[in-house]
Amino acid sequence: MAAGLALAAQGIHKTYRLGRQDLPTLAGVDVAAAAGEFVGLIGPSGCGKSTLLRLLAGLEEPDRGQVLFEQAPRLGAIGLMPQRDALLPWRTLLDNVALGLELGARLSRPDARQAARAQLAAFGLDGFAAAYPGSLSGGMRQRGALLRTFLAGKPATLLDEPLGALDSLTRTDVQEWLESAWLTFQPTVVLVTHDVDEAIFLSDRVYVFSARPARVTAEVMVDLPRPRPKGARTAPAFVRLKERLLEELRGRG
Ligand SMILES: Nc1ncnc2c1ncn2[C@@H]1O[C@H](COP(=O)(O)OP(=O)(O)OP(=O)(O)O)[C@@H](O)[C@H]1O
Ligand SMILES: [Mg+2]
Repeated sequence: MAAGLALAAQGIHKTYRLGRQDLPTLAGVDVAAAAGEFVGLIGPSGCGKSTLLRLLAGLEEPDRGQVLFEQAPRLGAIGLMPQRDALLPWRTLLDNVALGLELGARLSRPDARQAARAQLAAFGLDGFAAAYPGSLSGGMRQRGALLRTFLAGKPATLLDEPLGALDSLTRTDVQEWLESAWLTFQPTVVLVTHDVDEAIFLSDRVYVFSARPARVTAEVMVDLPRPRPKGARTAPAFVRLKERLLEELRGRG
């Protein structure tokens, strides 16, 4: 693969079957992320974003096209936070978060627990270490799943609407945490989000998908300095990018 490219999907086609009907979902999608790049992916609901992440992670195979990753095998080297958080119901919040460190960073369980506990406060989850997922709110589960995914320290991490269940204040806080964690560890990240501000705030580059069957309709560079302060969202350059992406989403780019 091209030098510096960590992860790429090339000419991806995917059609599902729904009863007797074909459901073309991805119709020739090309996306790529350089090593350590933060790539955002936006597009209308149902266009195939989660499908693409599963293909990138190696959980499904495309009908045509190929996924390239700097390491083989992909499974195990790419972390995926699915759209519905996948916390294990029989583990406490702390042990769910620690799982990323046990499996990903190969820490012993006591060390993983200690490192996980240290992060809970930043996520507004201190006091809930011993709670089981069933007794947490949707937003708390989502933050736990994000922590677990990120602490696993994989070279590439795919995030499927990781902050969708959060209120806007918590959401901007977690976005800042995410940027600083990414700046620290520099994994390659692909983030799916419906929130255009979030895509701009976090990404180096944003792909816009069409309605299903998805194609890439635009690829927009986000050339804003990092770390990005809260106020970045109202800067003229940010607002211009937002207008451009909204136009592209409306299909008028
Ligand atoms: N395993 C599957 N079997 C059959 N159809 C599927 C399967 N997974 C996804 N689809 C279909 O593929 C299309 C794209 O689904 P996908 O979940 O990738 O969309 P999305 O862009 O992530 O949407 P959203 O923004 O709502 O999460 C949908 O029409 C969905 O019904
Ligand atoms: Mg989805």
